[in-house]
Amino acid sequence: MEITGMVDVVRKQVKEWRHQGLTVGLVPTMGYLHEGHKSLIVRAVAENDRVVVSDFVNPIQFGVNEDLDDYPRDIEADKRLCEEAGADLIFHPEPGEMYAPDFSTYVEMQRVSEGLCGKTRPTHFRGVCTVVCKLFNIVGPDRAYFGQKDAQQMAVIRRMVRDLNMDIEIVGCPIIREEDGLAKSSRNTYLNEEERKAATVLSRAVFIGEDMLKNGERDTDTVLRAMRKIIEEEPLAKIDYVEMVDADSIEPLTKAEGRVLTAMAVYIGKTRLIDNFIAEL
Ligand code: PAF
Repeated sequence: MEITGMVDVVRKQVKEWRHQGLTVGLVPTMGYLHEGHKSLIVRAVAENDRVVVSDFVNPIQFGVNEDLDDYPRDIEADKRLCEEAGADLIFHPEPGEMYAPDFSTYVEMQRVSEGLCGKTRPTHFRGVCTVVCKLFNIVGPDRAYFGQKDAQQMAVIRRMVRDLNMDIEIVGCPIIREEDGLAKSSRNTYLNEEERKAATVLSRAVFIGEDMLKNGERDTDTVLRAMRKIIEEEPLAKIDYVEMVDADSIEPLTKAEGRVLTAMAVYIGKTRLIDNFIAEL
């Protein structure tokens, strides 16, 4: 497995693979890789001849008061995980390799990026779409792999690929959870012991909501009220949002039908965590 910070090296390598008739998968990440990322890489390895993992903390998807400087990084551990998972190349650029000092072109999306996380993070998806579009242009993969934990991000990227006629298959992979239910996330490392225990309210609310829909409840308010109640009972938790939306358009629903995404963002202390489930009804 190789690692490079240079766009040209990635292009040259992918060109060689293409000459050999090989397929290429891309797993875009911001590093500090965990079992959730590993499951994406393992799937990409199973479905493609060669796999590139991008490992880049993308500055333009962080808001001014967000955690860009504190975002955890450990490239040596990332290398080990990528190697174990069977990746062929890590692309680990410096911000300057991705963004020229006079960088001035962005991919901006309306509607799908405006609800849920877009309300409290108004520039986030512009940063995500721009970097993912750049990574797609640099690597030119057949398939790209994303986790369902970032369900709105997945809807946004699928929409970008459709709207801009990008010839790339977007593969969504299930949420990987800790034994007590907490969805795996690089940001879980911010939690102290007490907060870590409190953070299980997110998955507990997810499981209650999922059960209610499975048992036939279709009134969104009834389900969301039950989920919010669980979270509000936890003193360290503060709800940003708990909502039920169409999983593709991210438009709010009053009745649970179709492909329903129930998503939440909750502060545990200062750490903002997200979780969700999708139901096909
Ligand atoms: O999901 C992430 O880790 C990031 O948003 C992504 C897709 C790698 C873009 O920076």
